[in-house]
Amino acid sequence: MTLSYFRNFLFLLDLFVVLAHASATDASGTAVTTRFWDCCKPSCGWKAKADFTQPVQTCTKDQKPLTDFDAGTACNGGDGFQCSNQQPWAVNDTLSYGFAGIFITGHVEDYWCCACYQLDFTSEGLENKTMIVQASNTAYDVTTTNRFSLAIPGGNTTSHDACTTQFGVEQSVFGEENSGVSSKDDCNNLPEALQDGCRWRFDWFQNAEYPSANFKRVTCPSELTQITGCARHDDKQVQAASSGNSTNAANRQSPRSSVVGTAAMILAGLLSV
Ligand SMILES: *[C@@H]1O[C@H](CO)[C@@H](O)[C@H](O)[C@H]1NC(C)=O
Ligand SMILES: *[C@@H]1O[C@H](CO)[C@@H](O)[C@H](O)[C@H]1NC(C)=O
Ligand SMILES: *[C@@H]1O[C@H](CO)[C@@H](O)[C@H](O)[C@H]1NC(C)=O
Ligand SMILES: *[C@@H]1O[C@H](CO)[C@@H](O)[C@H](O)[C@H]1NC(C)=O
Repeated sequence: MTLSYFRNFLFLLDLFVVLAHASATDASGTAVTTRFWDCCKPSCGWKAKADFTQPVQTCTKDQKPLTDFDAGTACNGGDGFQCSNQQPWAVNDTLSYGFAGIFITGHVEDYWCCACYQLDFTSEGLENKTMIVQASNTAYDVTTTNRFSLAIPGGNTTSHDACTTQFGVEQSVFGEENSGVSSKDDCNNLPEALQDGCRWRFDWFQNAEYPSANFKRVTCPSELTQITGCARHDDKQVQAASSGNSTNAANRQSPRSSVVGTAAMILAGLLSV
């Protein structure tokens, strides 16, 4: 192999070392968003899905916190339902909080369960609007792109019958397949506990369909962790990462990757002369 080929190889090796050590606390990128609400126990509601304080709170049929994290999902005849308070709300005109089922390419649940992400929307109508979501669920059904499926009551229908079981309503109150209810007035047909989040979609969220967003991991606001009861143990490292301090950024690389990376850089430099 030629010298320049070898040099390029070393640069790639260095890049690989850096990428291989990119941790869950550094996650960022572009994503598409979808909507869902299925009343089922969220996927991050099971034990040991990630290194967290407790799984995402699941609720009983009558909206009481369920203490048994082994309870089965109501999607499958079990007693575990999605808690109705895990729905979105507007903090002000440009900021909302909420929950989402997410997928980040190249990773599995332990990477995101209970992590919080800032979504800066980039689609027309939602410019300058930001949403901070906690990953309460997982969206493994599409794995070709980063995706945040926002938990919005009435935002979509579901093939499961957990909502009808939980509230004793017809599936039809949740609207049309793939799009959910079609107007703010239709939110009045939803179970009372779900109406506010349904209206949020037509107010703050401008009834957006598939808006795109830039996302980045942020430290969870206590407003969200209080609702789910779940916080990740790596949340402390996120604060350092988001301070924008380059000294801290360099320190985030493990010593081993720094040594290998630096050696590769020096060798590549020597070979380039
Ligand atoms: C509703 O859910 C289906 C199934 O997951 C999905 O294909 C569709 O894109 C969703 N609709 C919206 C508006 O997010
Ligand atoms: C919305 O609230 C956030 C957090 O309190 C604050 O930083 C931001 O300035 C507020 N934006 C407006 C438009 O009030
Ligand atoms: C977003 O912010 C920019 C810069 O402040 C402003 O020019 C633009 O009108 C805003 N867009 C919307 C939709 O509010
Ligand atoms: C960056 O962090 C280092 C170590 O914590 C600190 O000494 C330094 O003052 C910080 N620099 C800035 C610009 O915040």
